Amino acid sequence: MAEKPVIYVLNGPNLNLLGTREPDIYGSQTLDDIAGQLEDQAQALGVVVDVRQSNHEGHLVDWLHEAQTMNAKAVLLNAGAYTHSSIALYDAIKAIQTPVIEVHLSNPHRREAFRHKSYVGAAALGTVAGFGALSYTLALDAAAKL
Ligand code: DQA
Repeated sequence: MAEKPVIYVLNGPNLNLLGTREPDIYGSQTLDDIAGQLEDQAQALGVVVDVRQSNHEGHLVDWLHEAQTMNAKAVLLNAGAYTHSSIALYDAIKAIQTPVIEVHLSNPHRREAFRHKSYVGAAALGTVAGFGALSYTLALDAAAKL
């Protein structure tokens, strides 16, 4: 039987603290909770998710490269605050052919001005933001249908 397409779900700094981190903004679900939901959803969609988190920018760059090397179908990327600062992530997204979907729990455009600039969004195929954990669900649905 053919192997199922793999979708990387990459999470950046401070997202390991979901559940306790500013729950009024980011909700009360942990990243493990979200990963579990995505795994169930992936099964229903006939894909596999590989969910990872790092507080280190270079790990995210390496994983974007790996997504291409491993022939991943797509990447969901919530780069946390690196979204707003990282030209390295912009370059990495541009450097690979793998489609990247930017994901945010909150809507950065409704927040502080320094969150309005997105280097990730400038390179990504599309963006889903502002729906809490549902942002990941919507993005995975889109990624599976690409
Ligand atoms: C975030 C939004 C970013 O501005 C912030 O730095 C985060 C989380 C989100 O998912 O809403 O860490 O990416």
